[in-house]
Amino acid sequence: MPTSTDTDVIRLDSLSMLYPTKSGGTVQALDDVSLSVRSGEFISIVGPSGCGKSTLLRIIMGLSRQTSGTVTFGSSEETHRNQLGMVFQQPLLLPWRTVRKNLMISPDLHHTRDAATLEKAESLLVMLGLEEFGDRYPNELSGGMQQRVGIGRALMHDPRILLMDEPFGALDAMTRDQMGLDLLEIWDQDRKTVLFVTHSIPEAVLLADRVVVMTPRPGRLADVVDVSLPRPRRLENINTPEFGEIVAHIRKLLDSEHSAH
Ligand SMILES: Nc1ncnc2c1ncn2[C@@H]1O[C@H](COP(=O)(O)OP(=O)(O)O)[C@@H](O)[C@H]1O
Ligand SMILES: [Mg+2]
Repeated sequence: MPTSTDTDVIRLDSLSMLYPTKSGGTVQALDDVSLSVRSGEFISIVGPSGCGKSTLLRIIMGLSRQTSGTVTFGSSEETHRNQLGMVFQQPLLLPWRTVRKNLMISPDLHHTRDAATLEKAESLLVMLGLEEFGDRYPNELSGGMQQRVGIGRALMHDPRILLMDEPFGALDAMTRDQMGLDLLEIWDQDRKTVLFVTHSIPEAVLLADRVVVMTPRPGRLADVVDVSLPRPRRLENINTPEFGEIVAHIRKLLDSEHSAH
């Protein structure tokens, strides 16, 4: 059971998830996951494919309902899920809408388009380095730029918590490094709480305050590793011995969990 403090924004208590299978059985995706996330923390989540990382984010987002256990936001259960923004591996842009209008999808759906939301979209375009591309269509943008729009869309309602499910997984290595650093800059502006799923251990370490390491399915927490490297982080950090030690430690945890199965 995690110890909780006033500044916890998310608390997971003994979350378990069973999915029904077609043959009438069940598959267990999560087993007894407990975690407290502090306000403004950047948490990376790593674990083998199929261990329940996406399931975990979907439960927090409210897209799936856990079999048992609880998710608590802030100091009370009533804190609303509209404090959450989610970014997926694919940016899921509407091809017939311009970049600017893709940012406006949610306000348009909820009939909340007004001067303030339009202004928010403009400021996000600037923040994401897309100010020249507001009138372009998604297929005119590179993969990295499309994913920036996906991130922008999640930030439109200014969520306190950003859930990111392998957001850079479809990008080439160099774009990916740059996106990670850009994400840190955005995060640094108002310290949202971030839960960031990745299968790159160096990426997880470079970005995070803590790295949650999960076991193979059913996903449990193998460990939560502190990353006490100074900020702001830079790509050069990857070459330091401290960085290498943390990466090696996480790799070892993943390997031993893997061979234990
Ligand atoms: N909607 C679903 N119905 C049945 N099984 C599912 C469903 N979603 C995920 N699973 C299963 O749950 C396990 C965890 O999936 P997932 O959370 O996507 O893992 P990860 O994101 O870590 O790769 C996998 O074995 C997957 O096949
Ligand atoms: Mg996944």
